Amino acid sequence: MTSERFLKGRFNKELAEDVKSFIDSTSIDKEMIYEDIWGSEAHMLMLVKKGHIKKCYAREMLNCLQIAKKDVKGDRFILKPYLEDVHINVESYIIRNCGIEYGGKLHTARSRNDQVVTDVKLHLRSKILELMDCVIELQNILLNLALKNTKTIMPGYTHLQQAQPITLGFWATAYVSMIMRDLERFEGLYSRVNRNPLGSAALAGTSFNIDRRITTRFLGFDKISEHALDAVSSRDFVVETFSVMAILMSNLSRIVGDIILWNSAEFNYIILPQEYTTGSSIMPQKKNPDAAEMVRGKTGAVYGALMQSLSILKGLPSGYNRDLQEDRLLLWDTLDTARMSLKVLCGMLGGAQFNKKRMKEMVDSSFAAATELANHLVKKNNISFRESHEIIGFVVRKLDEKGKTLADIDEAFEILNKKINGNITANTFKKVVDSENIIKANKSLGGTAPREVERMICSLRADMKAHQKSVRKKRNKIIKAREKTEAEVMNILINRD
Ligand code: ARG
Repeated sequence: MTSERFLKGRFNKELAEDVKSFIDSTSIDKEMIYEDIWGSEAHMLMLVKKGHIKKCYAREMLNCLQIAKKDVKGDRFILKPYLEDVHINVESYIIRNCGIEYGGKLHTARSRNDQVVTDVKLHLRSKILELMDCVIELQNILLNLALKNTKTIMPGYTHLQQAQPITLGFWATAYVSMIMRDLERFEGLYSRVNRNPLGSAALAGTSFNIDRRITTRFLGFDKISEHALDAVSSRDFVVETFSVMAILMSNLSRIVGDIILWNSAEFNYIILPQEYTTGSSIMPQKKNPDAAEMVRGKTGAVYGALMQSLSILKGLPSGYNRDLQEDRLLLWDTLDTARMSLKVLCGMLGGAQFNKKRMKEMVDSSFAAATELANHLVKKNNISFRESHEIIGFVVRKLDEKGKTLADIDEAFEILNKKINGNITANTFKKVVDSENIIKANKSLGGTAPREVERMICSLRADMKAHQKSVRKKRNKIIKAREKTEAEVMNILINRD
């Protein structure tokens, strides 16, 4: 490995080869090279404004950074591992190209400690917005599915036993509602990520008269992460990111949990698009839900990443410690896993067909109407729910002993009618156990009744749109800040005063 020791004053020996590769973070840093350059531009503009760097010096360095950006774009900016990280790589690029008397000024009132956390936050916030977009896309698909299926009857489960009739629309909106909280969590996370640590320097602030509000504006941060020692040494926002993603993945793993079951011949509720299923190398008939299984499988890896990030922080002494470098080892990958999982799920659900006939048959050949029968006795026969529960339980037992269900309607009616001394007519009995009637009747707030599901679709869509708007607003703010920095850089490059 070629080398040039960067911070050489203190040392007259080379870093050991093993150590070089051991502490190198360039492979994980390369994701945030644009952010590192942006941070340098903002810092330099602030130093110029505060009179610490003359424009003629800044011009050289800013020009150099313009070329650096082109090199990055053209894949010509190769991060050198022996320069440890992206920060030294960018700084040494400037020094190489402008000379140390110019380029050496960039690091005034700055440390890699505030730089790294600035870069991570800048990169992370855009990733969060991408993920929010993907969650919204999945919600949209589920809401469209729900809208078409507010009357599509299927069994609702508890303990994976048929419990009560619900609709496919009710099922789909449950997940929309569930992942809405992921969006809420992303909002909260974003507000904690989008705070500016730059200007904290190594740990104690700086004696240079800097203005952190300026870099905050140029970088599009919402506020300043004020306390210097806290700002450089805290990574709870990284742990929080992993935790938000772990919960999101846990939710996605439940959606695929349903899909995987429903795709089995035993359930046969869903037909997955061929593009999202795979065959077996030996069993010609197989059409496996591998993509869904991978969402479930990758959830485990995300949980592991959360644990890793917590363990890295545990017991660290105050201030920056190099251990913190490991915080983002899995960060970018994990964000990518979540994004891919969402994308795959969108495609899979978007192209899926539902076996509605089978779903309805399963309801109508089961005991799913038992609860509604018990409710009916309470309403019409003036008995307590517990008594009614026992009566219907008795009817179910009798039918079950004969291998029958409530679908054997005449028999079921007879057993019940005998038990309650002729207090129900055959006609009423039929109406009460009819799954469509049951669905319609469950119109309490948040219930499965089509009317209620339609209402929830509207309100969920409104919430989803509000998040969409908020993502757009955040993204615009980033774009505007980027343009503002660019314009100010151009101003210095062009106006030769
Ligand atoms: N590569 C380091 C990291 O990723 C940057 C900060 C290093 N600071 C230091 N004083 N060694 O965390």
